[in-house]
Amino acid sequence: MDFVLSPLPFAKDALAPFMSARTVDIHYEKHHRGYLDALRRDLGGSPDAEQSLGELVLGSSGQRFNLAAQVYNHQFFWESLTPGGGGPPLRGPVAELLERDFGGFSRFRHEWVEVGMNRFGSGYVWLTLEDGAGEILPTPNAETPLATGAVPLLVADVWEHAYYLDHLDQRRRYLEVFCDHLINWDFVSRNLSRAPE
Ligand code: FE2
Repeated sequence: MDFVLSPLPFAKDALAPFMSARTVDIHYEKHHRGYLDALRRDLGGSPDAEQSLGELVLGSSGQRFNLAAQVYNHQFFWESLTPGGGGPPLRGPVAELLERDFGGFSRFRHEWVEVGMNRFGSGYVWLTLEDGAGEILPTPNAETPLATGAVPLLVADVWEHAYYLDHLDQRRRYLEVFCDHLINWDFVSRNLSRAPE
């Protein structure tokens, strides 16, 4: 399969002032594209190049896993963001999940920020569905819930390249802004509706 850079689902300046065009540009054009280019080089003419991205994530290890997972994680991250996003979700299955499993949006937000702050070093914070229940899951480096069987619903990239230009060392501020202004609840809702019962 010919791996291509998935298009951004919004203009690079569309998330400003909550995520600047410069942050989106560098994160997408340098980091995301860089992982994809490195994956293509790593695969070369290998038969593994015929696999889907998901198959590569599940079936590879070492550097190839890191590159494939980073491409997958970044595709998922961009879809997790939207202009005018964040704040409590509208009434519906996502709002019901937050109420049932976290006690509502503000408690979800609190836990999201704390889990993100406690993820030492680089990684991600995910909202996943595991055994039918919503769970906030931190993963280190390139690790992804796809490889563990949990259903990913939402992700925040907490590598420094995701926030340093806009918030310097204030990861907490980035995570708060993510919850208040950036979450694409429609994407979460679509992932939830496709999750196995
Ligand atoms: Fe990233």
